[in-house]
Amino acid sequence: ENDQINLIKEHLKSYKDFPKQGVVFQDIFSVLQNPKIANVLYDVLLNKAKSIKPPVECIAGVDSRGFLFGSVLARELEIPFIPIRKKGKLPGSTKSVHYKLEYKEDDLEMQEGVVREGQKVLVVDDLLATGGSLSAACELLSQAKADVQCLVVIELSELQGRKIINVPIHSLIVC
Ligand code: PRP
Ligand code: HPA
Repeated sequence: ENDQINLIKEHLKSYKDFPKQGVVFQDIFSVLQNPKIANVLYDVLLNKAKSIKPPVECIAGVDSRGFLFGSVLARELEIPFIPIRKKGKLPGSTKSVHYKLEYKEDDLEMQEGVVREGQKVLVVDDLLATGGSLSAACELLSQAKADVQCLVVIELSELQGRKIINVPIHSLIVC
């Protein structure tokens, strides 16, 4: 597994001062450009998701890069996928939470009735930075009384996003 993680790390491109001065942007799409490496990443993610106890019953993907990995996992695990989206994108009744992240602020929304009380939901995103996005997603799911854990591909440990999230967080690559 360490060899796989290192291989993925080697293919991860980072960009200084994007999208703002002072931010070092880790670009997960650089990994997906290489199908062999992308497959390694999907394998490691799937193994991680399968190892989570109690077993995950539903995947919630965070707009937009959480959709990429979340939907692949939901398909492999044969469980439902639900979207947590930026404001104004989801039809029907929704709940909404305002949040701040590393380089902007926004609102995240979830449709009502998509999870049931006590359901084991895994929130999936590409990256944990300040934790603003993930904690907003967790807040929406907690309001719906789901039992929440999180899985991210990359954790930027310096920004200490983990500290503001009070549910278990699993990460593949810590940098
Ligand atoms: C990025 C990233 C995470 C979030 C991490 O998404 O994909 O969702 O920021 O930052 P945080 O831990 O400080 O909240 P972004 O909102 O830029 O959206 P995108 O996926 O639509 O590009
Ligand atoms: N990469 C991708 N998304 C992000 C980052 C990053 O480095 N920081 C905050 N959101």
